[in-house]
Amino acid sequence: MKQVLLDGTHDTRDLRNALGRFPTGVTVITTRTPGGKLEGFTANSFSALSLDPPLVLWSISRKSMSVPGFVDAGHFAINVLRSGQSEISHHFATPRENKFDGMPFEDGLAGVPLLEGALARFECKTETTVDGGDHLLFVGRVHKISYGDGEPLIFNAGKYCTAVPLRAPSAQTDLDGVWDGLG
Ligand SMILES: Cc1cc2nc3c(=O)[nH]c(=O)nc-3n(C[C@H](O)[C@H](O)[C@H](O)COP(=O)(O)O)c2cc1C
Repeated sequence: MKQVLLDGTHDTRDLRNALGRFPTGVTVITTRTPGGKLEGFTANSFSALSLDPPLVLWSISRKSMSVPGFVDAGHFAINVLRSGQSEISHHFATPRENKFDGMPFEDGLAGVPLLEGALARFECKTETTVDGGDHLLFVGRVHKISYGDGEPLIFNAGKYCTAVPLRAPSAQTDLDGVWDGLG
């Protein structure tokens, strides 16, 4: 097990490597600015925050071109990608002028673009933003959801993957009970 002290002289690749040990899903976060410009970028920082009220969070690098648009818009949508949508992930992770050219989408609340074919979509109003170092953290209240069945796209150790359930029955027992206990 490699140990690294984060004392300012460390190699940031080690921090990235350690963070990469935590697999996530992949989302495209979208918005429509007050001026009508569509913005979207690939994010794996999305996380559930609260069930009641329904809150989610994500963060964006302050260097990202779309930061001002997300701040001004006050609304956003989280589009959770399917296992077959790694090209869409790559598309929205690559800076370009209009990422929505040729991309099938429909208008959601406040005209925010919702990607067709996503596994789940969360339409949100920005509740607050929080300083997060070199990132800006968004907390959003969820106003509408849509979701289907299928396999999610997984990002693990810098690679796109699929999720495979463990086969041992003991690995799956009583998970419903754990969540029910939390209400
Ligand atoms: C799988 C994956 C996850 C990413 N997650 C985030 C994220 O959570 N926050 C972030 O700021 N950038 C993230 N990025 C990088 C952005 O998608 C990328 O910098 C994008 O170009 C930003 O778009 P923009 O500059 O047009 O705003 C991720 C990239 C990939 C491939």
